[in-house]
Amino acid sequence: MNILPTGLAAAAALLALGALATAHAETGENAEELYKTNCLKCHGSEIYTREGRIIDSFDGLERQVQRCETALGLRWFDEDIKDVAAYLNHHFYRFER
Ligand code: HEC
Repeated sequence: MNILPTGLAAAAALLALGALATAHAETGENAEELYKTNCLKCHGSEIYTREGRIIDSFDGLERQVQRCETALGLRWFDEDIKDVAAYLNHHFYRFER
């Protein structure tokens, strides 16, 4: 008698996890939104591809995104910083990860 509800709870938990994973997969859009709203005031994308750019690794990219974000007082979540770093990496830097 008890087996069914337990099984359902487990199934529900799995579904909830699946929903979380899906939400995460959609963060690319969120990153683009964050980036376009906050990051184009001082420099355009030319800075990411310029000769002698300062970033030479994905870790460095993450740190620089955080530096600019902190300087702007934006208070992003760690996830947002990672997502925007991934966004910039995908479009401009193309570091291996
Ligand atoms: C208040 C002005 C300002 C804003 C707004 C700004 N940045 Fe920057 N950013 C700078 C400056 C200045 C540099 C160059 C630092 C240097 O050359 O040493 C820079 C450099 C960078 C670099 C490194 C470029 C390279 O050489 O490889 C990255 C990546 C970067 N910013 C990301 C961001 C992101 C992401 C945002 C949005 C959260 C952002 N920036 C918003 C001022 C800004």
